[in-house]
Amino acid sequence: MYKNFWWPLATYNEVSNKPIRVTALQQEFVLYRLPNGKAQVLSDLCVHRGGALSDGWLEGNCIVCPYHGWQFTDDGACVKIPANLTGVPVPRKARVDSYPTVEKYGFVWAFLGDLSETERIPMPNLSAIPTDAKGATGNITWQAPYQTVIAYFGDLSKAFLASDAEFAGATAKINTAQVTQYDWSLNANGSITPPKHIETSFLGLVKKEVDSPQTEAKSDMYFPCITTHSVADGHLVLIHLPVNDKVTQTKWLMVKNQSAEINKTLGAALEHMRSGVESGKTPSNVAAQAFARMCQEAIRRGWGIDIHTIQADYANIKAVVIPSPARREVPELAAAWVLKEVPVI
Ligand code: FES
Repeated sequence: MYKNFWWPLATYNEVSNKPIRVTALQQEFVLYRLPNGKAQVLSDLCVHRGGALSDGWLEGNCIVCPYHGWQFTDDGACVKIPANLTGVPVPRKARVDSYPTVEKYGFVWAFLGDLSETERIPMPNLSAIPTDAKGATGNITWQAPYQTVIAYFGDLSKAFLASDAEFAGATAKINTAQVTQYDWSLNANGSITPPKHIETSFLGLVKKEVDSPQTEAKSDMYFPCITTHSVADGHLVLIHLPVNDKVTQTKWLMVKNQSAEINKTLGAALEHMRSGVESGKTPSNVAAQAFARMCQEAIRRGWGIDIHTIQADYANIKAVVIPSPARREVPELAAAWVLKEVPVI
């Protein structure tokens, strides 16, 4: 798991003025919409006594911790402590980490790290997806590490999911593929032949197995957690969130005409893949190799979160957070952070 990347954490329709908790990178985040509609992501850990802000509510532009009523603005600063006597200022230590948040391609993204804007690796350019994409969404949880899930879905044959989930569990035949690797992404273009499918006559009396036509397809993988799949006018975005080092949650957005209809079968299609994803084996395909290379580069830059140390040293304390940009950008706050930063590999 890696800090200092843009992580999509939720689909557009999961986030509202009622705060929600998202667990990812073995951290907890609270997501909500401000009264002006802008989505915001904060650490979910109240610095007072560790309450979950996601159990709270909004009052104006502030999120209110339900335990003792501390109120935090979207930049993470506490602006009201109800128990304080009139005139007693709010201490500077009363702040939580607030992450730069952008809504794009149908997801709410947070920059989970402390790099300045100019130092950050840009958010991926999902060129086939409208920036204000809306569509059918859903999610599925796997008992598998997220590098395995990404290797599984990074394969071009999974592009057929964007076309017709009727082929659940079957493997499409890849006829040709051209794979291009970039620093933080991998693009595979080619053509696939989905498995034969059953065609039913007009009156539903006759069913026969027919060849599926060969079709152009595209599957891309974007570090740290995104795969996209396109066939014809069907575009599917999958984000694979590491809940912890053993569990992954995949959320999807289907951008396609009649996407609600196909979305019904997509959930079943993904469920059908469970035995493959959770087999305990990581596919050794080009996506897996590219992803491993990107992981190594992230670690070389000091961005790899040391999950094992967190589990060993901080078990049940939840006392570490991914640092936000304000930790480096505002020197006068340097001593004001109550919670420790996640250790890195
Ligand atoms: S734990 Fe949040 S206000 Fe006390």
